[in-house]
Amino acid sequence: MDITLSLTNVLYVVIAVFLLLLLQKSQRKQFGQLPPGPAPKPLLGNLLQFDVKEPYKYYLKLSKKYGSVVTIWLGNTPVIIISGFEALKETMIGLGEEFSGRANYPLLMKITHGYGVLSTSGHRWKQMRKFSLMTLKDFGMGRRSIEERVREEAKYLVEMIKKCEGSAFSPADMLSNAVANVICSIVFGHRFEFEDPQFKFLLQTVNTYFTILSSPLGQIYNVFPKLVNLFPGKHHQLFKDTDKAREYCKHKVRARMNNVDPSCPQDFIEAFVLKMKEEKDKSDTEYHFDNLVSLVWNLFSAGTESTSSTIRHALLLMMKHPDVQERVQQEIDEVVGKDRWPSIEDRQKLPYTDAVIHEVQRSMDFAPIAVPHKMMCDTEYNGYVIPKGTMVFPLLSSVLIDPKRWKNPNCFDPENFLNEEGQFMKNDAFVAFGMGKRVCLGEALARTELFLFFTSLLQHFTFKAMVPPEELDTKPAASGFGRIPRRYECYAIPRI
Ligand code: HEM
Repeated sequence: MDITLSLTNVLYVVIAVFLLLLLQKSQRKQFGQLPPGPAPKPLLGNLLQFDVKEPYKYYLKLSKKYGSVVTIWLGNTPVIIISGFEALKETMIGLGEEFSGRANYPLLMKITHGYGVLSTSGHRWKQMRKFSLMTLKDFGMGRRSIEERVREEAKYLVEMIKKCEGSAFSPADMLSNAVANVICSIVFGHRFEFEDPQFKFLLQTVNTYFTILSSPLGQIYNVFPKLVNLFPGKHHQLFKDTDKAREYCKHKVRARMNNVDPSCPQDFIEAFVLKMKEEKDKSDTEYHFDNLVSLVWNLFSAGTESTSSTIRHALLLMMKHPDVQERVQQEIDEVVGKDRWPSIEDRQKLPYTDAVIHEVQRSMDFAPIAVPHKMMCDTEYNGYVIPKGTMVFPLLSSVLIDPKRWKNPNCFDPENFLNEEGQFMKNDAFVAFGMGKRVCLGEALARTELFLFFTSLLQHFTFKAMVPPEELDTKPAASGFGRIPRRYECYAIPRI
C-alpha cells in the first residue's frame, strides 16, 4: 500500500514537472525572437551560470561574446542587457521614452507599494519626477539654499571627527548621518541629532535594505519572491523595519498637512502639500498622500546610501594613495586656504580635486546595472522586437571601464579626467548617475554633497589607514545590485 502510494506521488511529481516545463516553454516562446544570449536551462534559466555575488561580471562577459544587446533568463523572466556607450545612448537617450519604464523588481516594489518616483512608470512617474526635480532644483522654499544646508552638515561632521582626537574610528555612520541630514533638512525641514533613536533606526533600515538588495539573498528574492518568502531569513525583519520606516514617514507627512504657509513652503513636504491642495478637485491627480509618503522614502533611501558610501570609498582611496591625498590638500590650501569653508564656486578652481571625485565614482561603479528598467511598448532595436514589459539592465559598468574611452580604465587614476594642461576634462562616458530619462534624480544634489563634504574633510584632516597603504583592500564588500564599499577604521589627523 505504502509503496503504491509513494509510486503514485512520484508519478504526480513527474507529471507536474513535465507540465511546468511545457508551460515554461510556451511562455518563453510568447516573447518571440529575442536578442541572442546563452541557452536557458529549464526552470532556472541562466541562474546557475553566474556568481550571484558578482552578476555584473557575467553580464560583461556575455556582452563580449554576444554583442551590445543580450538576452538572459532569470528563472522564467527574460532580461535584455544593453552594454557599451553607443548602444546605451541609442536606447536610453534615442529611444528614451520606450526604455523609460521601471522594472517590477520585487524588492523595490515591496517597499513603495507602486507609488513615488523610483519604482513607478508612465504618467505617475513623469508627474512625480517633474515635481521632485523642480522642487530640488530651484528650492524655492525656505530661506536657505542646498549649498548652505550641505555646508552646515559638513561643519557638524568635521566637529564630530575632531572629537576622535586622532584616535582610530569608523567614519561610516558619521558620513551616513551627515548625508541623511541633508535630505532630512530638504524633505522634513529639519536635521536630526546624531543620537536621535528614530533617525538611527531609519539609517539602519536603509543600510540593511541596500545590503540585502546587493546580497545573494536579494538577487534570489528578486527572481523567486514567493518561494523565498516561505523560508526564514533576514528579509522578514527587513520588511518589518521598512513598514515601520514607512509609518514614520506617514507620521511626519500627516503632522504637516494642515499648517503650511502657501506663500512660503519651507521644505519638500510642504511644497507637495500645496500642490495637493491645488489639485484637490482633480479626480486623476497624482498629488496624494500615498505618492508623497513613497516619494519621501525614495529620496531618503536613494539619497543616503549612495552618497555616503561614495565619500566613505573616497577616503579609503585617499589612504590607499597618499600622494593623491596630498595633492588634493595642496590644491585646497592654495585655492580655499584654511580660514574659510569650501564653496561650490571653488570647484572650477580645483581641477585636480574635481578629477579625483569623478575618478572615485568611475572606479567604484556604484550601480553596475543602474536600477533595472522595463520596456514601455514593443520596440524594435538592433533587428529584434523587444516586447512591452520586458526587463532591461543598462550595463553602466561596460561604459565606465571601456578601454576606448578611458586612459587607464582598470585602476584608480585621476588622470582619466585631466588633460595635458592639468585641467578637468569632461567625458560623456562618465555615466555613474545613469543615462537618459531615468538618470539619477538627485545628481545635482549628490555632486554638491560629494564636493563640499570631500573638500571640507581634506581641508581639516589627513586620513591614515591602520595598515600600510599597500595592504589596504579597496574591493567592495558586496557587488550585487549595487557595489557597496567596505567599512573600515582609520585615523583622521587634524590639519587645522
Ligand atoms: C553618488 C551618489 C549617487 C549615485 C551614484 C546615484 C546613482 C543613481 C543611478 C545609477 C540611478 C538609476 C538610473 C536609471 O534608472 O537608469 C539613480 C536613480 C535615482 N536616484 Fe540617484 N544616485 C546618487 C545620489 C542620489 C541622491 C543624493 C538622491 C536624492 C535626491 C538620489 C535619488 C535618486 C532617485 C529618486 C532615483 C530614481 C529616478 C527615477 O526613477 O526617475 N540619488 N541614481
